[in-house]
Formats: sequence, structure tokens, C-alpha cells
Amino acid sequence: MKKTSKSTRGLRAALLAVCAGGVLLAAGFGFGIAGWKRAADSLAGADAQIADGRRERQKIQRTLNDTRSQLHDTQSQLTAAQDQASALEARLVQAEQRASAAESDSRRLEEEKSALQSELDQLRKKAAASSAAPSPSSSPSASSSPAPSVPDSAKLIALTFDDGPGDTTARLLDELKKRGMKATFFVVGNRVGRYADTLRRAAEEGHEIGTHTYSHPNLTKLSRAEKAEEIQSSIQAIQNVTGKPVTLLRPPGGSYDDDLKAYCREQNLRILYWSVDTRDWESRSKSSILTTAFQDGPYGIRDGAIVLMHDVYASTVDAAVEMMDRLQKDGYTTVTVSELLRLRCGGGAAGEVYVCAPPK
Ligand code: NI
Repeated sequence: MKKTSKSTRGLRAALLAVCAGGVLLAAGFGFGIAGWKRAADSLAGADAQIADGRRERQKIQRTLNDTRSQLHDTQSQLTAAQDQASALEARLVQAEQRASAAESDSRRLEEEKSALQSELDQLRKKAAASSAAPSPSSSPSASSSPAPSVPDSAKLIALTFDDGPGDTTARLLDELKKRGMKATFFVVGNRVGRYADTLRRAAEEGHEIGTHTYSHPNLTKLSRAEKAEEIQSSIQAIQNVTGKPVTLLRPPGGSYDDDLKAYCREQNLRILYWSVDTRDWESRSKSSILTTAFQDGPYGIRDGAIVLMHDVYASTVDAAVEMMDRLQKDGYTTVTVSELLRLRCGGGAAGEVYVCAPPK
């Protein structure tokens, strides 16, 4: 028994040892499994982190790319803005240069203007001084020929010729000169250039030159500015040739209104109508012209009459020649319109309409 007990104890110990070894092995294996599992978990965690990191990196890369491209855009915009700024700066410099040039131009023009103004003032003073001598009245008398001594008892007549100068005007001037007679010509401005020599001669020989406008319109149908243009351009054309001031207007067709009178008052122009209408333009007949002119009554020739004719017709010049001889025979003195107004109307007034000037 003792012997058996001894071997049993040995077996038990061996078994125990095996069991313990198994337990230890199992424990070791368990530990090993747990470790492997932990390691695998860690590995998976690391992989996930790597993937996260990659995603993050990609995200950052994208952001970086975006930012770079934004930076590029911004740089391009900045360059464009700088270019624009330079261009604007250059334009500003040019504009400043132009402004300063214009300023000096303006100063120069201002100086020229003031020089011309003082020249004009001097000329006006001279003109006033020379016109004051023959005519002490404040009338706008324009006759520069010495005033003939006309007795108070003289029968006066003013022969007036419209619409010229023309081809027949020179012959009329010859006939007037032969008889020492003076007439008044109401000239159309757009004919002045073509007949400048005839017009100059008429003025030089002591005839009076008035305006009949530049292109013969009905002045009452025109605005104030158009009236002014028609009248002033004709006056300028006449004065350029004669060098003498124009102070008489005969409106085409005899058409005038209050506005024209107001304008003429401002411009120192007397408006001339007529008392004898020969209607020479209509009949073109010497005998008819003479019969009409020498009719009895207020519409025929008499002391102070103003006779209307047109020096652009041969028949008118023919009639005028006979008229002049008959007037001389009847004791008339032919005078210019300004002379008639000076002798009978105190020179007349600007803006007023004169039809005739009978003795008082
Ligand atoms: Ni006319």
C-alpha cells in the first residue's frame, strides 16, 4: 500500500505538472490570442488613421490647390488693375497737359478780344466824331457825301431802286451822274459779290446804299434770329464793299411787323416804305411806269414822295431816264432817303417806318 501510494503520488504529481503545464500553455495561448487581437485591432486602427490621414492630406492638397489658383487669379487681377491704373494715370497727365494748353489759349483769346474791343471803341469814337460834324441831330444819318445846300422851298423827291445791283445798274448810274442826281439803292446781299464794282461805284458817286436783306425773304415769316441773320449778313456784305455804315432797311415786299420795328430800333435802322409804287417789275413798260409815277393824288410824284423802282430791268432804266428829265423840268431836287429825312423829319428815328416826307 505504501508502495502504491508512492507511485500514485508520483502520477498525481506528473498529472498535476501536465495540467499545470496545460493551464500555463492555455493561459499563454489565451494571452497570445488576446495580444494578437489587440495587435490586429491596433493595426486596423492604424490603417484607419492612415486612411483618414490620406483623406485629410487630399483635402488639404485640394484646399492648397484652390488657394493657389485663387492666388493666381488675384495676382492676374492685381496686374490688370495695375495696368488700368497706369493707363488712367497716363490719361490724367495728358488731360492735365490739354487743360493747361486750353487755359493758355483762352488767356491769349481773351487778350486778343480785349485788344479788338479797344480798337472797336476807338473806331466807334472816330465814327461818332465824324458823323457828329455834318449832322448835329442824334439821327442815324448815313450820308457821307457833303449835304447839298437845298433851299427850304425846294420840291424834294427820293428815287429808290430795289433788288439790285444788276446788269442794268451801271447805265442808270451813268444817267444819274450826267444830271448830278442822287438816288438810293436797296441792295440784296447775295448779289453784292457779283456786282461789287457797280456797288462801290454807286457809293463813291454819292448815292445811298440801304439793305433789302440778304436773300429777299418775307421778314415777318422769320424768327428774330433769322431776321437778324438776313439783315446783318447783307449789311456786312455791303459795308465790306462800300466801307460806309448802313442805316436804312427796305423789307422785301414792304412786309414788316412790330418785332421787325423793335429789332430795327435796337440796330439803329430806319424802315423805308414808299408812296409811289411804279409797279415796274409787273409792267416792264416804260410808258406804263411813267403814267403810274406821274398820276395825280397821294400815290403819284409830288413834293416829299418816295418812288419805288427796280434797277434790274432795262425798261425801268429807260423810264427812269425820262422821269429824271421831267423832274428836273418840274423843278424837283432829287435827294437820297437820308437827306430827305434829314431835311423833313429831323433825320428820322430808328425802328420807324417812313412812307414819304411832305413839307410841313
Ligand atoms: Ni424787292
